Order: sequence, then structure tokens, then C-alpha cells
Amino acid sequence: MTGDDGSPVAMTSLFGTGDLSQRDLLIGADLRVAVQGEPRRYVDLDAAATTSASAGVLRAVQEFLPWYSSVHRGAGAKSQYTSARYERAREGLLRFVGADPATHVALFPKNTTEGLNLIAFRLGLTRDDVVVTTAVEHHANLLPWRRHAQLRVVDVDRSGTFDVDAVVAALDQRPTPRVLAVSGASNVTGWLPDLAAIAAAARDRGVLVVVDGAQLVPHRPVDVVALGIDVLVWSGHKMFAPFGAGGLVADRRLLADGEPFLVGGGAVKAVSDTDVVWADTPDRDDAGTPNVVGVVALAAAAEELADAGERNRLHEDLLVRALDDELATVPGLRRLGPTSGDRLPVAAFVIDGMPHREVAERLAREHGIGVRSGCFCAHPYLSRLFGLTAGEVQQFHDDARADRTDRLPGAVRVSCSAATPLADVATLGEALRALGAHSPQLTAADVGQLR
Ligand code: ALA
Repeated sequence: MTGDDGSPVAMTSLFGTGDLSQRDLLIGADLRVAVQGEPRRYVDLDAAATTSASAGVLRAVQEFLPWYSSVHRGAGAKSQYTSARYERAREGLLRFVGADPATHVALFPKNTTEGLNLIAFRLGLTRDDVVVTTAVEHHANLLPWRRHAQLRVVDVDRSGTFDVDAVVAALDQRPTPRVLAVSGASNVTGWLPDLAAIAAAARDRGVLVVVDGAQLVPHRPVDVVALGIDVLVWSGHKMFAPFGAGGLVADRRLLADGEPFLVGGGAVKAVSDTDVVWADTPDRDDAGTPNVVGVVALAAAAEELADAGERNRLHEDLLVRALDDELATVPGLRRLGPTSGDRLPVAAFVIDGMPHREVAERLAREHGIGVRSGCFCAHPYLSRLFGLTAGEVQQFHDDARADRTDRLPGAVRVSCSAATPLADVATLGEALRALGAHSPQLTAADVGQLR
């Protein structure tokens, strides 16, 4: 096996040590795609959206599949084994985020979006309740809260960040909020708010702390007890376990009463024609046959990430620096969000004279590089990063309603995981510089999309 520069390496970054390059540890890492008729290794720089499965996760799934059966519904050996694996995964997930099984419970929503919808419903909020959230959030941490309560949004400055004082000011406004719902890391810019200080301020004021960990958990260890987080939600598909299960770890007391988000078999102790006795959580919050394969995958990924610990962090810091260096040398490229301080290896940008969609499509077509472009399910954040006026936001909505998709604003985002080789960032830099050098003639309509 070879490293980024082609020489053999001892693997020191992802999932343990060994004679492997980082990308050998992902399924499909050597995938080839046709680039202008020639096969080329696919460079995947879209980890903030989804990651490939790791080899270890796939192994765990393959070992488990012969045993796959019903959970808590069968007397046979397969069902017993499957039920035990499912419960073991629950314990593993609690350990992974520093939670205590006596006081915390782990659920398995299919992803962060479902988990946040679940908890926003389960907290029994009313229209009189206030939820403090921030302009950094992606839609999954805005819309479920907006459905049930009033939002008080902590705004960002032009660099796309806010400080702890701004959160404290929102927490201190009257009426006192019931919940603080905040992302651990931005899916657009990779910015990491000061979660420890923010959570402490909320807890001091008796406000529940719900953290959207979709981007944070794949990159950094999170200890819910040490940080004072009441509810942490995240996705498996962003942490090398793309089998449709995510995690939700909550203080048990929050889920002790009330109707579950999904009602059905498994969530009850008794049902008559007119009455239902709900089961205790976690069963109450686990109606229907669960996605055990996804849960086995999630637990395996959690173990691998916990084993890797600081090694991933060191590699990711190198990726952050490499992205900064490469993107700084691309003519006309403007970064969105902070470019200093502690960040994830994620970068959003626009390039003068090149529509965002065109950049992404040409990276794919001409260089075999996969990135995302658009607004990354975070429209309010992008509007602020672009400095759109209220009139421009209105125009954006009018265009969306009329399906004038070619006029929608957006940026390009590149995002790395712990398994991204440094060489892939260099390949990106070369490709972006080449795009500028061989840019086709722009039409007036293209220029209209430059934001
Ligand atoms: N999954 C969304 C992303 O790509 C939010 O960032």
C-alpha cells in the first residue's frame, strides 16, 4: 500500500495503525470515472454531505447479515442474537458520546433531520415557547423548531460567525427560552462555535441544550456530560456508516412522558379500542421494525472513530491548512466564512466570473472531482454570507416559486473527512487553477448567477 506521495506508509490517521493509506480504508476509494474518455481515480471532496462506508463498517455488516432477524419480537436464536446486537449498539453509542446508561438513552433516527424532528416534537413545545437558535444552522435545525415554537435567532457577522456574548444576550431576553438548538459545526464553512461556553451559558439559565452534531461528531470526540448537552443528534452517513441509521442521545427524563413521534407496534405496553399504554423509552421511541443493519454499521463506525481519537484530528488539521494554501492560489476565488482559527476541513467559496454550478460541473467533468454547489440546505446562512438584502432574499424566493433555478444564488463547497488524502486537496487546487485558465466565454445569463 502507498501513501499520498506514492511511498509506503504506516497508517496513522484513520481507524488504527497499519500499512495502509487513508483512502484504502474506504469502500470505493479507488473508483475510476471517465474524464474526457480516460479513466481517472474519483476524488471525493463531498464528505460533509455523505461519506463512503469504511472497510471496517462493511466487515461488521457482512458478519452480522447472516444473523439478521427481528428485534425483540422472536424467540429464535437469530432474533435473540439480533436483539442483543441492537442493545449492545445502544450501549456503544452512549459510551461513544460519554453518556451514562443510567441517566441517558440512545435512539436511532435515520439521520439528523429525523432526530431533530423527533426531539422538537417530543419536548412538547407550544407556540408560547421560545427556542434560541442561530443563523449558522442548516434547515434541519431550524424548521422542526419553527414548526413547534417561536424562534429567536442569534445572527452572524459577515465572516459567518457569532460570539458567546451574542448567545448569552439571546438567552437573557424575555421570555426565557426553553431550548437552545445549536450546531456543533457548520456544514457550509466548517466553523466550530465555542460549544462548551455556549452550552454552559444555557445550562446556567435552565435552558435545554440540543446540539446538531451532524458535522461535529464525525470529526471530534464529543462528551455530552462534560459539555452539558441534553440532547445530541447526528447521522451515520457522514461518519462512514451509510446504512440509514443515525444517533440521538438524550437525558432520559426528557423522554419519560408524552406520545412518541412515530406511533405503532413496539412502542406500546397495551392497546385497546380506546386506550393505549405507552412503553418506556427507548421502546416508546422505537415503533416498527428498526434498521438493525444501519445500527450495527453505526456502532462499528463509532468504535472506529473512538479508536482513532486524536490521530484523525492531526490529519484533519493538515487538511485544513492544505485547503487554505491551495484555495489561496486560485485567481478570483473568494472564501465564505472564517479562514483562521479552529475549523473542520470544509471550505465554501465563489470564483469571479464562474457560476457556482459551472465550477462544480466542470470539476466533475474535466477532473473527476466531486464537490457540492448551491446553498447546502442552509439558505439563511448563505444569504448572510452573501450579504443579500431583504429584497434580494425575496427575489430568491420568487425565483424558487417560479422554478427559475438557473438564477438561484449559491457557492461551491469542498469537504474532507479523516480519510481524505492530502494529495486530493492538491489535485483540487490544480483543477481550480486550470478551470480559470481554460474558462469558456461567459454569457450574460451566467454572469447573473455569480453570487
Ligand atoms: N447534508 C447537507 C450537506 O451536504 C446538509 O451539508
